[in-house]
Amino acid sequence: MLKAYADQWALITGASSGIGAEFARQLAARGMHLVLTARREQLLTQLAAELHQAHGTKTEILVADLSVPVEPPCLLQEIENRGITIELLVNNAGFGYVSPLETIDVEHVQNMIRLNVSALTDLTLRVLPKMVERGHGGIINVSSIAAFQPVGYMGPYSASKSYVLHFSEALWGEVRDRGVTVTAVCPGSTRTDFFRISGVPAFLDKHSAQDVKPVVRAALKAFEKRRQYVVSGWKNYILSLLVRLATRATVVKESMKYFRPKK
Ligand SMILES: NC(=O)c1ccc[n+]([C@@H]2O[C@H](COP(=O)([O-])OP(=O)(O)OC[C@H]3O[C@@H](n4cnc5c(N)ncnc54)[C@H](OP(=O)(O)O)[C@@H]3O)[C@@H](O)[C@H]2O)c1
Repeated sequence: MLKAYADQWALITGASSGIGAEFARQLAARGMHLVLTARREQLLTQLAAELHQAHGTKTEILVADLSVPVEPPCLLQEIENRGITIELLVNNAGFGYVSPLETIDVEHVQNMIRLNVSALTDLTLRVLPKMVERGHGGIINVSSIAAFQPVGYMGPYSASKSYVLHFSEALWGEVRDRGVTVTAVCPGSTRTDFFRISGVPAFLDKHSAQDVKPVVRAALKAFEKRRQYVVSGWKNYILSLLVRLATRATVVKESMKYFRPKK
């Protein structure tokens, strides 16, 4: 649990767009100072100006490619050098990749795992012990509804998000009696650049999706209630439960209809 929102610092990864930028807006509205990180500096600078004007909060920008293994520890070192203590870490940076096996780019998959899994793990495990020592603080890890099942043609991504969910829930159990909260957030389809970057730009034309605002509202509400995970949106929540009732083979076969390549 946090000491407070106001005048405390949050680090948000992947803050240049989508869900991460919305975390920045909702946390700044609660009076938090923010360290924003991503690769696209200009978007971060624009967001920082917007937040300062709207809320008068402080923002530090640190440009980093978190899929490079040395970057997460360097980022934390730079934050420490600036005299900042992180009260809330939002591990949001991530991307998806849809591809049939025939054309899959293995290096791209490795980059995704380095970002979605390794960087998130690195930041979490370096920040969390200090929070436990202080007896307050929190981490929000952005997983996905894809964490609850394997998704055909998106296997490495859905597996990476299962990792995030399980890793976060285990830590939630370890630290919950020591004043610190770890919450995994599992959004369903959300209107961001995600599907374009995943290689399926038309997905949002054919499927319903949430806006980023309710996703982040649900995330912060669950975090404040010290929940170990939250699925945003009641339809997505039901979907996450339904997979428990079907056989695992059925779940995989059903998942394949979303991203099966056109013949
Ligand atoms: N949208 C959905 O339907 C959905 C559903 C479930 C879960 N999620 C998860 O939500 C999170 C946010 O995604 P989004 O939907 O908001 O998509 P997005 O708008 O594409 O945001 C992704 C963010 O990650 C950053 N990022 C990507 N590669 C990076 C790298 N190598 N190093 C540092 N930062 C990097 C991007 O910034 P730069 O490009 O500037 O580096 C951007 O700020 C992801 O973890 C995603 O898996 C999304």
